[in-house]
Amino acid sequence: MTTFENIVVEDHDNGVVLIKINRPDKLNALSPEVFVDLKAATEQIAARSDVRAVILTGEGRAFVAGADISAMVNFSMDEAKVYGQTGHDVMDAIAALPVPVIAALNGFTLGGGLELALACDLIYASEKAKIGLPEVGLAIIPGFGGTQRLGRLIGWQAAREMVFTGKTIDANEAKRLGLVLEVFAPESLIDSVLEIANTIASRGPLAIKTAKEVMTKGSELSLKEGNAVEVGGFAALWPSADRQEGMSAFVEKRAAVFTGK
Ligand code: COA
Repeated sequence: MTTFENIVVEDHDNGVVLIKINRPDKLNALSPEVFVDLKAATEQIAARSDVRAVILTGEGRAFVAGADISAMVNFSMDEAKVYGQTGHDVMDAIAALPVPVIAALNGFTLGGGLELALACDLIYASEKAKIGLPEVGLAIIPGFGGTQRLGRLIGWQAAREMVFTGKTIDANEAKRLGLVLEVFAPESLIDSVLEIANTIASRGPLAIKTAKEVMTKGSELSLKEGNAVEVGGFAALWPSADRQEGMSAFVEKRAAVFTGK
């Protein structure tokens, strides 16, 4: 795995990869360089067949405190458009990874930081997390998916309140809203999230991939169309060696050993 300037990519047991955004002196703000590193790391992970889950977190006091305001301050309108599109491309590439991506919010999760978390499949937080979309305070709007993904996750009214007020909420309030799944003590956040990732990694890899695929597709379809996608995914797993192994192991009362085939 390549070494990056702005992120750290670590291989953990059982095919779990942890990506840590590593600009703590700037609260991990998403500079153009961070986007380049995130995109490259995402492409490398997408090309690997041994990865079962990805965890995204931040070094220091922040997950990510937003897009890099210093980099944006003198942008022309055209440059702003390119930056917005770049952010979307990175978020989309993360969302499209064929394995579950878990955001572990260790601290400030603001603006582009929350948008990055929203591109993930599962979001967990430390008690220290502070979460919000403060862009209107800069007289701009969220530009990396915040106006679109947040409402789809927590409902449009709660999302409108967060976007219109730009307020920062704590982890427990985020849990109440369904924005984060669980809140952990800061010192146990990564271990807790690794445990969840390991549970996912212990299941049939093709089943996890297919589940993500059909749920992602279904979220943009009518129920009828989504159910048809599910039928296709359910049947497509039948010829897999892991499907045979999973069912045989159950019948033979032993633990299944999956190969991802
Ligand atoms: N872009 C660029 N730099 C940022 C940043 C951002 N989004 N967020 C923090 N930083 C930098 C600060 O400029 C500071 O750098 P410096 O030490 O060179 O001056 C450093 O990170 C530490 O931040 P600081 O503001 O001193 O920490 P704090 O604890 O006083 O405040 C926040 C923390 C998160 C409340 C505050 O940094 C903040 O409001 N950040 C911007 C959040 C935002 O509006 N995000 C949306 C952007 S579209």
